Amino acid sequence: MKPKEWVKNLRVYEPGRPIEEVARELGFDDIDAIVKVASNENELGPSPMAIEAMQKSLAEMHRYPDGGAFYLKQKLAEKLDVAPEQLLFGCGSNELIVFLGHVFLESGTNLIMGAEAFSVYFLVAAMYQAETIRVPMPEHVHDLDAMLRAITPETRLVAVCNPNNPTGTMVSPEAMDRFIEQLPDHVIAIIDEAYFELMPEEQKPDVLKHIRAGRKNVIALRTFSKAYGLAGLRIGYAVGHPELIGLLNKVRQPFNVSTMAQIAALAALDDTAHLAQTRAMVEQGIRFFEEELAAIGVKTVPTGANFILAETGRGREIFQELQKRQVIVRPVDPYGLPNHVRISIGTPAQNRKVMDALKEILA
Ligand SMILES: Cc1ncc(COP(=O)(O)O)c(C=O)c1O
Repeated sequence: MKPKEWVKNLRVYEPGRPIEEVARELGFDDIDAIVKVASNENELGPSPMAIEAMQKSLAEMHRYPDGGAFYLKQKLAEKLDVAPEQLLFGCGSNELIVFLGHVFLESGTNLIMGAEAFSVYFLVAAMYQAETIRVPMPEHVHDLDAMLRAITPETRLVAVCNPNNPTGTMVSPEAMDRFIEQLPDHVIAIIDEAYFELMPEEQKPDVLKHIRAGRKNVIALRTFSKAYGLAGLRIGYAVGHPELIGLLNKVRQPFNVSTMAQIAALAALDDTAHLAQTRAMVEQGIRFFEEELAAIGVKTVPTGANFILAETGRGREIFQELQKRQVIVRPVDPYGLPNHVRISIGTPAQNRKVMDALKEILA
């Protein structure tokens, strides 16, 4: 075997631990008793309308998917007030990050990201042998002016996760507009809006208005994994200028998004009741954790997503102690946050179980 030298040094993403794996390791028989709040999934489950649509389509699964995702593209284009040529679907928004790396990054170029931002950006830069420039995040918030200042002639991509994972923090709409307006032409801004549907309305920057106005160097990424509860199906999308979308489409495999994912996403877009219920659950859960954690002296970071970063101290130990109590959260030491854990918002009963376990450990 003669792998390329640089591949040997690549780091691997540490995902939230699967329930079955934790149950096997710790000898828990009752899998249903385990609360996994480690991957920012929607604990309400998929939209019932999506489930019904998927069930109806089962007998058609001998067919290849529509690689162009015609119906989904039409529907989403109308909803977002963009042209269908401005949309591209991926196997999760994750795959779209890989497409961006494929098209823009190589040795000698760099990608700029926040020091505490979603690590897939770093992993993709490494995969294409590009350098990553990490910009400090005061109070865990992206410093967009500092990110602009960090741009070099070799910069190809700047990633802004808004809200950011794992911190939950947001930049203001004004700061986002200023950032996009000042961006030099040789750099693409990736505005990663994986949690867009869950953000408080008044704090949502309008990134698409810049794209509608014809800006070529801004791309928004969104997903059906979070608010829409379809993480297992792997479907996300990019919105950008047709020229940029066309370039990304060139590196896409013909059938990258499954038929089932397209069918479920189409139905989920219609299920406004499920989305409203999800939003209400998340809002209520955030208030619950903010109040309960404050009451035991644990600081939290203001969040616009379906998770909350809690400063418990000894993050990795707390993660392990919680696992023994059938609760899986996410340690965030790989993000330079050894004193925090990230807790995804669940149902009220799940949130209660997480809090009771935390109280026991921190008492
Ligand atoms: C900021 C951010 N971007 C992208 C993703 C990837 O989501 P998916 O590939 O499931 O669409 C995530 C998932 O955790 C995320 O938090």
